[in-house]
Amino acid sequence: MQELRVGILGFGVVGRGVADLLLTRTALLLQRTGVALRLVRIATRTPERDRGLELGSVEVTRDLQRVVAADDIDVVIELIGGLEPAKSLVLEALTNGKHVITANKALIAVHGAELTARAAAVGRELLFEAAVAGAIPVIKVLREGLAANQIDQIYGILNGTCNYILTAMREKGAAFADVLKEAQAKGFAEADPSFDIDGIDAAHKLAILAAIGFGSFPRFDQIHVEGIRHISDVDIAWATEMGYRIKLLGIAKRDAEGLELRVQPTLVPEAGMVASVEGVFNAVFIRGDAAGTTMYYGRGAGERPTASAVMADLVDIARNGQAAVVQRVASFSTLPSYLSSQPVREAAEWRGEYYLRLAVADQPGVLAEVTAVLARQQISIDAIHQKGRSDVAAVPLIMVTHETTEGQVRAALAAMEQLEAVREPPRFIRIEPGFV
Ligand SMILES: NC(=O)c1ccc[n+]([C@@H]2O[C@H](COP(=O)([O-])OP(=O)(O)OC[C@H]3O[C@@H](n4cnc5c(N)ncnc54)[C@H](OP(=O)(O)O)[C@@H]3O)[C@@H](O)[C@H]2O)c1
Repeated sequence: MQELRVGILGFGVVGRGVADLLLTRTALLLQRTGVALRLVRIATRTPERDRGLELGSVEVTRDLQRVVAADDIDVVIELIGGLEPAKSLVLEALTNGKHVITANKALIAVHGAELTARAAAVGRELLFEAAVAGAIPVIKVLREGLAANQIDQIYGILNGTCNYILTAMREKGAAFADVLKEAQAKGFAEADPSFDIDGIDAAHKLAILAAIGFGSFPRFDQIHVEGIRHISDVDIAWATEMGYRIKLLGIAKRDAEGLELRVQPTLVPEAGMVASVEGVFNAVFIRGDAAGTTMYYGRGAGERPTASAVMADLVDIARNGQAAVVQRVASFSTLPSYLSSQPVREAAEWRGEYYLRLAVADQPGVLAEVTAVLARQQISIDAIHQKGRSDVAAVPLIMVTHETTEGQVRAALAAMEQLEAVREPPRFIRIEPGFV
């Protein structure tokens, strides 16, 4: 019987989940692949810590070379995270003839082109299903299920921490800072939450989806990234009143002029499917010219959901081995020699409708001053809401624009900030009324 010998780098949340599935599903995996998948070794920073698993003969070591350079390892699963030493270890493992699986979205988003080129050059697999949306097999969907489609839109909720916070703010009418503290106490947010709440984690995933969907590998700094720190309970309440919900979305669009790549808080219709994705759940929506829009929903993180995706890659490697093929599907779907560099449009050019929030002095003439600024930027207004109270220093002034460009909106807000009656930096949120 054929055997595939596995080594894991990193024994944290996902490393533990993968080890557990490998050790407890031997028979099932053999029935599905015809290959005995054997966990040989785990290398990690603190091998002595008890992870509560029956490891049997599995060696746990501090020596990372005992995985990436050992003769008795066929597949290396990188679950350390971060750019270094993960990148060097992956390159070394490939060069040493190992197949590599990683859940490391930062690594693939930033160095994916270089790493996959190395994998192709040495005739080994580099797979990363778990890097995007945890348990949801969206990479397999894009690379295989939708392979005959021209993809023009990929959007979705790619970060469960942000979605949990936005959901809780709406359900409890609570402020961002309070909900963040609660999320940290429950383990849904890291002690340093900036990667999640500033949109970087979602942007890493979006870069990978865009590369697979569009056959064009964006530079990470070409993605416009905004997080959710500025979303206030006032925004949440007004969104609800206007029939919308606020979601942090990763959005990748393609048209004749190029790509639009952004992670932004976005207003989506309350009755739609995007709005219905709540709490820690993720969802990805893909529009292809033949398939139309399809939706994929599930848990985007956690020990077992993420391990499930890692294991799917391992099963692919085992099956490819049985069929004596390698790189049956290119890492980014498009063959490396056809990957192109499509232009990425500047944020100022994007067209859309926008929600604007100002905090203004409750005094006569303010509205006229603000609308004059909008008129100078040729922005027309669809709706204005103001609930004044003469006993407070500033009251919210909410406006919704007709279609305009993001550049005009930013210029208008910068001018409004200079007005004496405007008491806080004005904010905007883009509206996507057409998202399902
Ligand atoms: N957690 C999730 O739900 C999830 C979901 C999707 C993707 N991912 C990705 O999966 C990867 C792993 O995430 P995780 O949540 O499992 O992280 P984690 O719990 O922090 O585990 C990382 C493991 O790597 C070890 N490690 C870190 N730096 C090392 C070094 N320089 N040398 C040796 N070992 C080192 C750590 O050692 P110690 O035990 O000593 O700290 C720990 O065992 C990341 O790329 C992450 O983005 C995670």
